[in-house]
Amino acid sequence: MNTLNGKHIILGISGGIAAYKSAELTRRLRDAGAQVRVVMTRSATEFVTPLTFQALSGNPVHTELLDEKAEAGMGHIQLARWADAILIAPASANCMAKLAQGRADDLLTTLCLASGAPLALAPAMNRVMWSDTATQNNLLTLKQRGVHLFGPVAGSQACGETGDGRMLEVPDLVDALSGLFKSGVLQGKHVLVTAGPTYEAIDPVRFIGNRSSGRMGFAIANAAREAGASVTLISGPSLEATPEDVNRIDVETAAQMYEAVMQQLRQHQIFIAAAAVADYRPKSTSRQKLKKHAEELSIELERTEDILAAVASSKPRPFAVGFAAETENLLSNARAKLENKSLDMIAANLVGKDANAQDIGFNNEYNALHVLWGDGEQVLEQARKTTLARELVKLVAHHYNKNRRHEKNSA
Ligand code: CTP
Repeated sequence: MNTLNGKHIILGISGGIAAYKSAELTRRLRDAGAQVRVVMTRSATEFVTPLTFQALSGNPVHTELLDEKAEAGMGHIQLARWADAILIAPASANCMAKLAQGRADDLLTTLCLASGAPLALAPAMNRVMWSDTATQNNLLTLKQRGVHLFGPVAGSQACGETGDGRMLEVPDLVDALSGLFKSGVLQGKHVLVTAGPTYEAIDPVRFIGNRSSGRMGFAIANAAREAGASVTLISGPSLEATPEDVNRIDVETAAQMYEAVMQQLRQHQIFIAAAAVADYRPKSTSRQKLKKHAEELSIELERTEDILAAVASSKPRPFAVGFAAETENLLSNARAKLENKSLDMIAANLVGKDANAQDIGFNNEYNALHVLWGDGEQVLEQARKTTLARELVKLVAHHYNKNRRHEKNSA
């Protein structure tokens, strides 16, 4: 599975002769479907010009922390949030030392501090510098903080010596980076996800719908797949691309979604209901287009099936996760839904417009979630929906496995 497809990668380049290999790396990452934004330290630009990376990445290269023009395009905090992963290749001894100290004296180190995305380093340096106690201590500190180390490997070095400190070759770096997105926490599990809005027809051309884009549900399906699960995605009308290796079933109405979910249910151990399902539909659908006559028109509505509640009360039931999109009283409304529908977990998010009339929750690339379960809760801070989806899937996997252990022990 190519886990890099669609990923946002910040490729950090620090000063070192191996920087020339990062030109090829940029191309290979793009070939794998990743979007790449290159950030260079000042000394890196002495080895390869930013223009090279601009041409190869298809994006402007970022070099300065306080560059008005760059900040106007994509500010450093935005860039930090944009990233699904940061790879620094080559990572020099100096760059590693600064990261170990948590310094933020240039754009690259600042981004590493400001981003919650996984950070990976591909060290490249002279073998004596690599084996120096200071470098090895920095390495240990960084590893303990969860930084991923790709290489280095032994071999001939640009300085003419032979030994440890050579940057990993480009295909190996691409493989290692792709591996970051495969967690395996849902290996062998079957996950069923609903996504998108539903459309409830009024007549052949009109319907009652909502603003859901499907993005969150599609991101969850993708994250569950990356975590090793077999995934079925049942989606209402959405323009989102089907994630790789995900079995997608398209539906339009709440009734069709209900049927499709019930048909699939038995084969799945985890159900995540991210769809914004209509709660009401027109009691009858006109076969002909309604013409305007009267000044007022009333459409009688009836309740739709509550898919999530039906799943959570089925026997045997899967681990059931719901969403609560609220415009007010987020936590109390969400906890009530968790209890009333007998869910294992609920992810609550605010929707509507913020003070600047920008969409929050729906129709937006960013979101924040407050996840609740029986005796606990966790806030997943504002991030891109793809990042949030991965964090949510990790939480779901953790609680699903915990419940199973508990069930086994009490059987
Ligand atoms: N849901 C569902 N089937 C429905 C309605 C909702 O599966 N017919 C699921 C959604 O996918 C989501 C959760 O239930 O996971 C939302 O709960 P719900 O109480 O229905 O939320 P709202 O529809 O927003 O309800 P309310 O208007 O009462 O807030």
